[in-house]
Amino acid sequence: MAGPVSDFHASLLHLAAGLIEQHRATAPNVLPRASVAELEARLTPFDFAEPTQAEELLPWIAEHLQLGNVHTTHPRYFGLFNPSTHPITVAADAMVAGFNPQLAAASHAFGALTIERHTLAVFQRLLGHTPGADVANFTSGGAEANHSGVLAAAISRLQGFADGETQGARCYVSEHAHDSFAKIVKFCGLGREALVRVPTDSDRRMDVEALRNAVDHDRARGLRPFIVVGTAGTTAFGAIDPLPDLASFCAAEDLWFHVDAAWGGAGIVSPRLEPLFEGIERADSVTLDAHKWLSVPMGAGMFFCRHAEACQEAFGVDAVYMPPRRAEMPDPYTSTMQWSRRFIGLKVFSALANLGLRGLAEHIERQCALADRLEHLALERGYRVEAHSPLALVVLTKPGLAFRTKPGWSASTRTTTLGCRSSRSEEGARGFEPA
Ligand SMILES: Cc1ncc(COP(=O)(O)O)c(C=O)c1O
Repeated sequence: MAGPVSDFHASLLHLAAGLIEQHRATAPNVLPRASVAELEARLTPFDFAEPTQAEELLPWIAEHLQLGNVHTTHPRYFGLFNPSTHPITVAADAMVAGFNPQLAAASHAFGALTIERHTLAVFQRLLGHTPGADVANFTSGGAEANHSGVLAAAISRLQGFADGETQGARCYVSEHAHDSFAKIVKFCGLGREALVRVPTDSDRRMDVEALRNAVDHDRARGLRPFIVVGTAGTTAFGAIDPLPDLASFCAAEDLWFHVDAAWGGAGIVSPRLEPLFEGIERADSVTLDAHKWLSVPMGAGMFFCRHAEACQEAFGVDAVYMPPRRAEMPDPYTSTMQWSRRFIGLKVFSALANLGLRGLAEHIERQCALADRLEHLALERGYRVEAHSPLALVVLTKPGLAFRTKPGWSASTRTTTLGCRSSRSEEGARGFEPA
């Protein structure tokens, strides 16, 4: 029977749910409407000397967020990687906050961990991995999953790494790979020189001959190549590196093969897109983000690895103050990068359970169709299509376009990359009219 305290909690959750839905239905536009100075001024009454009533606070928060953020849930939001979210996943994430299980130790949260393992197994099978034998865990995002991959590779292939022998290590990525790798080589103590950016071909895919030359050249200089990263869906252009060739090269050269499929990899749930990922099943480790193309709230990265022993060596510790182990499953604090651990997997489980794999595939395929439509509309309006990835990403150029730019990409034009991520983006595409 609900008592007065739980009635109060329920009414707050009800209020919050109403504010979220009101925002999603009525946000007037995509862009923020207040300046940083205006938002700071709104905060001055909060000197925290006196408590503020929760019923006043929640509407204040909603207004502040609406005034000061880019609205990724708006139907006209076409930005990359920050999707509108499936409603069930928002509700599931609220339940995570409410139940607040601590997933560091299995003995404290095996209910939550069984859900995570069941969910990860779906993606393991799609990747050709063996649930139970191979490693799979949720991460804060793609950067942490990439970091886990490089760390496991260094442990496995760089002699002396765990004892600090890092000199001469070399990690090969395409020149269009995600810049998380620039941080990761530093996090791993390898130094910035360890990152080798391999040139790409005319389709912006890693050039395997250039890779071979770089590895040969580095070995001849006494350096220690240990990992090649193929990207399945580069951040700016959606290019997919030649995964089968990279897999063969790595096998022949005894190099660890990591595939960063952070956003593009979600396409593997679609039977129509799945052939694009041929070769990913031969990777030693893979990064995949559900909080991008699978439309669950941030952050929900996933890390998959075929080498349990390397992960054990990378992340294993003995802590006397932690609860005793359970025989059925490893403690996440000893087998992954994080210690205290949020129940990340519930929102992914909810999306899968509520929409089904078929529903997620339809979501992905519809967005590919929207990308085709976007290209058509943009061409009609005088844009030039710089790239159109089969992963629902269109790169457009137009002189003077005031979007994201990067020197050197295009001499006289500016470039914008538009994905079709929003589950409501159909209305947006109808009225496509870039700033
Ligand atoms: C290809 C790729 N890898 C990794 C990342 C980093 O992922 P996250 O932002 O989830 O850490 C991104 C982010 O956009 C990405 O596009």
